[in-house]
Amino acid sequence: MAGNWKMYKTPAETHSFFEAFKPLVAAAVNCDIVLCPPFPNLHAAVKETEGSNIGIGAQNLYWGKEGAVTGEVSGHMLQAIGCQYVIIAHSERRQYFGENEPDVVRKVEAALQYGLTPIVCVGERLEERESGQTEAVLGAMFDGGLAPLTPEQFAKTVIAYEPVWAIGTGKTATPQIAADAHRFLRGKVAEKFGAEAAAAARILYGGSVKPDNVAHLMAQEDIDGALVGGASLDPKVFAAVVNY
Ligand code: 13P
Repeated sequence: MAGNWKMYKTPAETHSFFEAFKPLVAAAVNCDIVLCPPFPNLHAAVKETEGSNIGIGAQNLYWGKEGAVTGEVSGHMLQAIGCQYVIIAHSERRQYFGENEPDVVRKVEAALQYGLTPIVCVGERLEERESGQTEAVLGAMFDGGLAPLTPEQFAKTVIAYEPVWAIGTGKTATPQIAADAHRFLRGKVAEKFGAEAAAAARILYGGSVKPDNVAHLMAQEDIDGALVGGASLDPKVFAAVVNY
């Protein structure tokens, strides 16, 4: 159960969040809990969660260890401050910063090189769904961004299905729509990496996940977890998602 804070919260707000959140999820043993704050809060978040059952992730990284790349942050740096996860190719990064499948491959490889678990986002836009292209879009994202990985690299990678039309809109995909997309993606994994890899793959659903819809989504066989935006900003609300 992962929270993506996007561009929200200061270090002081990060401190207040974890102070409230940690005790609320201390007894959660059936899932991995991850929070992905913006870069300036990562250090505080790692310190706040030391010795707890909560892992910290970044929302992006640059491939390469260091160099003249103004404004970017490397996997090496994220590892050095204690991050364990990194979100890759969120739809907002695809939309506003032009991230594409070759970037996904480079970023996943960089994340794994520095011991970070990549959470790779895929998902169709509304016009793509309405024109019947959902599987073509998901298939192309899989083929371009995930299929080029080695089986060893893929085994350490988490997929997040986030239909763009369901992000921040309050329009959650129905459990059936999400289940269909997850089943399709797991089928792609099976085709490329085999049945065992497909069974072991972790595929998260993201898009308006809230305490009152998480149980229905999680009841779907192919939905293994959630990537939560807005509902991860409030400690009580995100704890309710985690503890559903
Ligand atoms: P919301 O939960 O706010 O719809 O955001 C989903 C998301 O983009 C998580 O990465």
